[in-house]
Amino acid sequence: GSATTKIQRNPIFSTINSDDINHFREILGEKNVIQDEDRLSAANMDWMRKYKGSSKLLLQPRSTEEVSQILKYCNSRCLAVVPQGGNTGLVGGSVPVFDEVIINIGSMNNIISFDKVSGILVCEAGCILENLISFVDNQGFIMPLDLGAKGSCQIGGNISTNAGGLRLVRYGSLHGNVLGLEAVLANGTVLDMLGTLRKDNTGYDLKHLFIGSEGSLGVVTKVSILTPPKLSSVNVAFLACKDYLSCQKLLLEAKRKLGEILSAFEFIDNQSFNVVLNHLEGARNPLPPSMHNFYVLIETTGSDESYDKEKLEAFLLHSMEGGLVSDGVLAQDINQASSFWHIREGIPESIMKAGAVYKYDLSIPVEKMYDLVEEMRVRLGHSAKVMGYGHLGDSNLHLNISTPQYDDAILAQIEPFVYEWTSKHRGSISAEHGVGLMKANKIHYSKSAETVQLMASIKKLLDPNGILNPYKVLPGSLASSS
Ligand code: FAD
Ligand code: MLT
Ligand code: ZN
Repeated sequence: GSATTKIQRNPIFSTINSDDINHFREILGEKNVIQDEDRLSAANMDWMRKYKGSSKLLLQPRSTEEVSQILKYCNSRCLAVVPQGGNTGLVGGSVPVFDEVIINIGSMNNIISFDKVSGILVCEAGCILENLISFVDNQGFIMPLDLGAKGSCQIGGNISTNAGGLRLVRYGSLHGNVLGLEAVLANGTVLDMLGTLRKDNTGYDLKHLFIGSEGSLGVVTKVSILTPPKLSSVNVAFLACKDYLSCQKLLLEAKRKLGEILSAFEFIDNQSFNVVLNHLEGARNPLPPSMHNFYVLIETTGSDESYDKEKLEAFLLHSMEGGLVSDGVLAQDINQASSFWHIREGIPESIMKAGAVYKYDLSIPVEKMYDLVEEMRVRLGHSAKVMGYGHLGDSNLHLNISTPQYDDAILAQIEPFVYEWTSKHRGSISAEHGVGLMKANKIHYSKSAETVQLMASIKKLLDPNGILNPYKVLPGSLASSS
């Protein structure tokens, strides 16, 4: 990708030799030291097929102790590493930039304990999110996060990106739900912070450094998460709105009228919706054919079926009568509810199928959010398709721009405009996907110089040789060893 070509390999890092390979084989056993070309080419390429590294080595540890031995050795040899989870990241953070060693902890996928009273789950960080969802479901609980990539992403990757997703509006971020974790530092030190307490004010709460630091400070190996009880009544409505103002007002109404049962509020503009209908297998318009400018998916989750339904129906009726909603359908069974979610969760995949994509993940005050999409349409004219969707309930816009092929001239029209605009409105240039490689040199649009400097000092303290996920998160000028 274009971002990769602009940076130079840091010559401080060694390159792998046969002694290294032998050493890793001693630690991990032959079959967990992978040099197979097909496996490596998949691990070198990100989900968007935009970032491509040239690593020659993929390591698959099976225990914290093995992770510790790998890192201790890499640190002593100054071999750079990339922690990789399910490789569903969207900012180029999960793949090597050059020849970094890939460490995938997907084999560390055991559930360690589950407390049926408190709902506290303790597991290894390589567990796939969807497997955890099914596991806790069987125990009568749900995971506090859900996202379209659940079939591949790992909980360690979710924590490392501080993934938001489809339920954040109800259950909050992982900074609240993760009660503890275990991480291995660059020099192999194992930090046991795997607490299972709701409250623990003993000094600095260092686990938070590993939530959202994208593998730049350590490898997360175990996690402890608070899971909410599964409630019996779930309803999903798919609604159409004539304009963006109606979507905003509908959100306010939903927060007031649905209150404690609201569990998702997602919005999709007409352009995104059409891409799904055209490119996603099994996608059908849930509404009678008619042109609408916006679609909103609302989910409620509560404990009393008739009470919840009554509440939701009153809200819908009121919103229809008031003109906020121009059409809508309430899922009649679980299959219909899944088909609504299929549309929303299928947007990223559909956009990928439609061509090249320039993807932005922004926090912007709700009132201003869609202005950016409209301004971008004016800027780009007919040369690109501009789409807006996302987690409206969290003020999180996914601005996606699609063209038949990558084009640097288009990119120059989008950046830095999109970052300047977001910064001007005091938004964040990364709401939930992280900084990765894509935005390492853009972090100043959202963080002050002093803040970024302190981040660099923390990085230096925890990883003095800079071996953990180099070129990512922090600007090159600060991150490289000096
Ligand atoms: P990877 O992509 O492998 O890695 C992501 C980052 O975390 C990298 O920097 C990597 O180095 C680091 N990392 C991974 N594992 C570890 C570990 N054990 N220790 C230390 N560092 C580690 N994100 C959202 O926030 N909300 C969404 O709704 C959402 N939906 C998505 C839908 C689709 C279809 C796709 C493809 C992606 C979506 N994402 C979303 C983006 C992505 O961030 C999440 O999918 C997920 O959190 C990444 O997990 P992963 O295991 O794939 O991590
Ligand atoms: C989503 O909400 O669908 C994800 O964050 C992925 C994306 O932004 O495309
Ligand atoms: Zn998202």
